[in-house]
Amino acid sequence: MNTTMRIVDVGGATPYAISIGPGLLQYGPLLAERVRGRHALIVSDSNIAPLYANTVTAALRAAGPHLQLATYTLPAGENSKTLTVFSDIIDALAALGASRDATVFALGGGVVGDLAGFAAACWMRGIDCVQLPTSLLAMVDSSVGGKTAVDIPQGKNLVGAFHPPSTVLADTSTLRTLPPRELRAGLAEIVKYGAIRDSEFIEWLEQQRHALLNDDDDMLSEAIARSCIHKAEIVERDPFEHGERALLNFGHTFGHAIEAEQGYASSTGTALNHGEAVAVGMVLAARLSTALGFARDSDTARLRGLLDSCGLPTELPPGLAPEALLARMRLDKKNLAGRLRLVLWHGIGQAMVVPDVDEASVLDLLRA
Ligand code: GLY
Repeated sequence: MNTTMRIVDVGGATPYAISIGPGLLQYGPLLAERVRGRHALIVSDSNIAPLYANTVTAALRAAGPHLQLATYTLPAGENSKTLTVFSDIIDALAALGASRDATVFALGGGVVGDLAGFAAACWMRGIDCVQLPTSLLAMVDSSVGGKTAVDIPQGKNLVGAFHPPSTVLADTSTLRTLPPRELRAGLAEIVKYGAIRDSEFIEWLEQQRHALLNDDDDMLSEAIARSCIHKAEIVERDPFEHGERALLNFGHTFGHAIEAEQGYASSTGTALNHGEAVAVGMVLAARLSTALGFARDSDTARLRGLLDSCGLPTELPPGLAPEALLARMRLDKKNLAGRLRLVLWHGIGQAMVVPDVDEASVLDLLRA
């Protein structure tokens, strides 16, 4: 393979590697060596399957002529993250005759990764899942760390399992077909790593943001690798989110509330997508930190400046009722004993979990 590949190792009880570089989906041996048995199911969605499912299937066939392969394609979008689609993937595994040594390939963004990962977690109590993320957001966040889930009417990601992938192959050439708005959404999660634990990374992002927005392959790979190193360090110490993994939710409690109140983004709607909502949420978390006396306003200004220059929103969209947002925040999975538990910061690179945040301060902020 004639390409530069970066590798990030995730340690802990179930170690695996994250490989990052262009052209990985075409590299059959790399894909086939992950299939311990004979069966592999490629799960993808209606946007991504037409672009890459044939590439993956052909590469697997060439490297493993003995393999029995099938593809399951779900309708693209968060609305597919249901128990019904989960059950359809299980049916596809049954139809393939998948045994315990079968592999699920999750080819797509976060929705595909969560669904396929959850099906892999449940089929025969757990089979291998190879994550093949095709969005920047999935490459730097959802494909790493083993969180899998589906949504139910009562809330997002309420049914799921921790099921670490057996490997992650992030083919950066897929970013070329990613709509610019989706690329920017991924940048929000990249900025998050700097915001919570790496002020030097923030400085680097401030310098490289134009290259990143212009699809500079090498800079994107570097940003992905640096983000994955942060995520790996955290999830190998705290795989089940008993402690520091919660820091990865900086901006997410506000962000999830915005997403839920607006209705989850579709390709046609005007609602903020996940990365955009997280960008707004990080600025709100930073502002709340200042209001509560934890951090200086200048750090918020710097974060806001970086997100702005990445083309991300930094203000609450109009028309959202503060009380309704707060009600959504009360449902966050991080909360304990009915108390609002938020990730705030002391400034750039210094996030912390604050266990019992005064709701009145949050309402004041949302009303401001
Ligand atoms: N996306 C946050 C986490 O994986 O913990």
